[in-house]
Amino acid sequence: MAYTVTIQNTPWQFQVHEGETVLQAALRQEIPVPWGCGGGVCGVCMGHIVLGEMVYPDGEPIALFEEDAEAGKGLFCVGHPISDLILDLPEMDEDWEPFD
Ligand code: FES
Repeated sequence: MAYTVTIQNTPWQFQVHEGETVLQAALRQEIPVPWGCGGGVCGVCMGHIVLGEMVYPDGEPIALFEEDAEAGKGLFCVGHPISDLILDLPEMDEDWEPFD
């Protein structure tokens, strides 16, 4: 089972396989998404879920406050899609560099 993730207002669309986070799938396919810690702590990967659903099998991530979740935001480093997703990551640009 794979889901299709589309990043709104960018040319990027990619597949997320079962057991992968959105971030893992993006990196595997060399999609330049913003990220930092990779563990739900820093909040750098946060964006809006425009359409679709994502879950956190390892529990609610530390950096996702209740008000963010209620506003439709998600952390893609630890989120697993349970449907196709359309995401809005407005900070995406070609200059993005992950933290060291
Ligand atoms: S990369 Fe740090 S919370 Fe997602």
